[in-house]
Amino acid sequence: MEEIEDDDLTWHKVPSKIDDSRNYVKALHVAGKKLCLISEGGKLSVTSSRCPHAGADLTHGWCEDGKLICPFHRHRFDVETGKGDERQHNFIRIYPLKQEDGDYYVGIKRSLWDKIFG
Ligand code: FES
Repeated sequence: MEEIEDDDLTWHKVPSKIDDSRNYVKALHVAGKKLCLISEGGKLSVTSSRCPHAGADLTHGWCEDGKLICPFHRHRFDVETGKGDERQHNFIRIYPLKQEDGDYYVGIKRSLWDKIFG
């Protein structure tokens, strides 16, 4: 799999084609991680896939008005900031996504281990 490194992030090429022409929430497997890919209104977001409330799989959730909604207890998370709605006191991780030469790349933070031994 193709990777590009900068100081803190490693950019991992998304292995499959991304369709931004319709709305959906689905799993995205990159660098051994299961992430959540959200397409809403032509805008793409990549988030962590595990709900911080009780561990539900957010890739089975749905998106409404820029909020990813957990299928278990309906916690809502902003797909740009990752912040949960006010009384939830939780958040999900947002992963940067960039497009280069027609391919998409997800930025994943390098661990301390990677920085020392990578
Ligand atoms: S597990 Fe997601 S809201 Fe409870």
